[in-house]
Order: sequence, then structure tokens, then C-alpha cells
Amino acid sequence: MSKLWGGRFTKSAEEWVDEFGASIGFDKQLVFEDIQGSIAHVTMLAACEIVTEEEKNTIVAGLQTLKKKAEEGTLAYEVAQEDIHLNIEKQLIDEIGPLGGKLHTGRSRNDQVATDMHLYLYHETKTIMHAIRAMQESLIHKAQEHVETLIPGYTHLQRAQPVSFAHHLLAYFWMLERDYSRFEDSLKRVNVSPLGAGALAGTTFPIDRHLTAELLGFDGIYENSLDAVSDRDFILEFLSASSTLMMHLSRLCEEMIFWSSQECQFIELDDAFATGSSIMPQKKNPDMAELIRGKTGRVYGNLFSLLTTLKGLPLAYNKDMQEDKEGMFDTVVTVKGSLRIFSGMISSMSVKTEQMEAAVSQDFSNATELADYLATKGMPFREAHEVVGKLVLKAIQKNVYLLDLAMTDYTEASALFDEDIYEVLQPKTVVARRNSAGGTGFAQVEIAIEKAKELVNKG
Ligand code: ARG
Repeated sequence: MSKLWGGRFTKSAEEWVDEFGASIGFDKQLVFEDIQGSIAHVTMLAACEIVTEEEKNTIVAGLQTLKKKAEEGTLAYEVAQEDIHLNIEKQLIDEIGPLGGKLHTGRSRNDQVATDMHLYLYHETKTIMHAIRAMQESLIHKAQEHVETLIPGYTHLQRAQPVSFAHHLLAYFWMLERDYSRFEDSLKRVNVSPLGAGALAGTTFPIDRHLTAELLGFDGIYENSLDAVSDRDFILEFLSASSTLMMHLSRLCEEMIFWSSQECQFIELDDAFATGSSIMPQKKNPDMAELIRGKTGRVYGNLFSLLTTLKGLPLAYNKDMQEDKEGMFDTVVTVKGSLRIFSGMISSMSVKTEQMEAAVSQDFSNATELADYLATKGMPFREAHEVVGKLVLKAIQKNVYLLDLAMTDYTEASALFDEDIYEVLQPKTVVARRNSAGGTGFAQVEIAIEKAKELVNKG
């Protein structure tokens, strides 16, 4: 099979060597970006009088034909043509004749592949940002239904203080908000054009890089041709933002798995997002949550893989860089899939309000409230902590909770206690009173919901 670069070669590689070096198996996903980049490039070549208007028209028409074939799925890719760029160029020449060979004037595959990936990642990052918004919306909807639903809040996975379930869900809203802004910020660096950097040093042709940048919707151009073809930071940033996002999702997965366990029974996942066991008929497994938790590892892996690939590379392009694509494609699929599953999983889960509320009234998570009570009445907090600690111990010994202790138990512990402690110790009161900014108090949660809604509506 003849190669487009075959001139200085006297023999061709064996098929299995070609296969090892080829990227067409995965970079064919860039076909539309590649054609889009080529149309912009040849349009610029004509505007700069490097090719004639007529030549440009024929080349663009040929590229449109290939695009149509790609849409119909009838474009045949050849491993012998190595990658998407050479495949398209070869097919263009087959389609319109030797004139197709003019397309590559003033361009290299090095600036071409970088351009394709910038275009691809811009588009996919936007899609992911939309998916983040959708998941945020499902969190808000669930939160709105559960402002006054109480769930144990934990530290060290020990019951700590009760919180509003809405407040707990909204914690993830804010994590996703930071994720959103990380992706949004990365777009500044994604939306820059490397096209026209040539192989590494620029070109002798009087090209107009600003024109191609404009035609492709980029905000500007890389200032340095070596940097333009060597930079993969924009992919690293994408993988890094994706890793952080997946880490957040994975933490929520862990909580949903815990909440849906027999031990908690705080939520029940919809049948559509759970699976059964092939042997144990009673099982309902939170597979989707486990899978997203598991897939987090591969996204981290993709980030580390690219960091490692790049660390020893001299400028400019090295074939090692072909390894930048599979992890990126894989991450796009994983992140989009995980966000989509999550939106559905959250909106369809049923929240077992009674189980949650039973849990918060059968623990000592109202102990802080009692210490705060004494402190409000003037006792130094440290001392109050000690007094309440003793009361907790007493209750444990009697095998009851704080609300079950007698008034005499309290007055013996401190003369500052009054009958109103029985109201103060109610879990609902405990939560309602945590009304500091950003706290779980119901009034604060209502404010947070409004803020959250404003953010997602902003776009
Ligand atoms: N398939 C190559 C890649 O993905 C395209 C760039 C090839 N450039 C080169 N000089 N071999 O990185």
C-alpha cells in the first residue's frame, strides 16, 4: 500500500508494524473535526492566494463528499494510511484527483492533530458542562422535597450531628459547581488555535493564522509554533477536572451505597438503577453507584498516563504523543455516562424519611446542643462539654438516650438545666437552630436552594 509520505523509502513496513503504529482505530472519532479544520485551512489558502478560488471550491466540495460519507458511515478507513489525517487526505485525492494534494500546503499533521483535538475537546467540554447542570438540577429538586427531612450527619462515620437531607445533597451541588467552573475555565486554553504552526517552525507560505482561527471559532492563536504543536496541557486540564469531578461522584456513590444498605435503609434506589443477584433472590445491588466509583480509577489512570507520557518529551512533536487520545476519549465517555446515570439515579431514588428520622432520634447526635445550651447560659464551653459527656455516659449505662433522662439527672449534673432542654434536644430543633451562614438550619437551606437555582438558571 503506497504511503503519502513514501518518497524517501525503499521498502514498506510489514502490515503488523503498520498496525502497531496506526491510530486510525481510535482517531477516526476526529473525522468531523479533521474535515472542518481542512475546510478552514483551504479557505484561508485561497484567501491568501496560495491556491486559486476554483481549486479551493473543488477541494471543499470533495471534503463535503467525505463528510457526507462519514455521516452515513460509508467512509472506509485503512490501517495502511495510519491515522485520520492521512486517511482523509488519501480519500480526497481518490475523490478529486491530484489537486487534493494541495490541501496539505503550509500545514503539517502536527498542527492538524492538535487542531482536531482542540476542536473536539471544546465541544465535549461544553457537553459535559451541560450534563453537570442537569445533575445539579436533579440535586436541587430532591433537596427541595427534603428540607425538613433529617439524616444523621457523620464524622469518622460515627453519628455526629443531625442535618437536613437537603443540606447534605446540596453539599454535592457546590462540589459540582466548582467542577463546572473548572471546566469552564479550561475552555480559555482549549479554544486557542495551533493551526498554521506547521510541523514545528511555522511555514514559508504567506498564511493567515488569524483567519483560520476565526473560521474555526477559536478565540485566538498560539503565540509560539513549537509550543502550539507540543502543548497537551489542555488535555491534562480536562483529565484533571474530570478526575476531581469523578472523585466527587465517587464519594456520593459511596454514600448512596451506604444509605441503601440494610444497615441504614435511608434510601431505596429505583429498580432501573439497581440489579439483582444470580443466586440470592432477595438482593438489590447498587451496581451503577459501584460502577461509577470503580470507573473513577480509570479516569485518574488516564490523567497519570498522559502526565507520564509527556514528562520526558523534548520539543516538539514526538510519536509518543499519539498516546494522548485514547485516555481522552475514554474519559469523555466515562464522565458523560456517569453524570447521566447520576441524574437519573438521584431523581428516581426514594427517600425513606421515617427511617432517617428514627435514626436521628436513636443516637447521641444532640449532645452538642446540650453543651451549647450550658455555654449560652454562661458556662465555659470546655466545662459544658465535660458535663454533657458525663450525662451521655450515664444514659449509656442506663441504656437510654438523652431525651429519656429524667429532669433530676439533669439538675444533678448542672443547676443551669431547665425543663426547656427537652425541646432543645428534639432533632428538629437541633437542626433548625444551626442557622449560621451555610449551616443546616432550615432557613439557611432555603436560602441555599434559591442561590443554587439562580446559578443553574444562569446557564
Ligand atoms: N497520528 C498522529 C498522532 O496522533 C498524528 C500526528 C503525526 N505526526 C507525525 N509527525 N507523525 O499524534
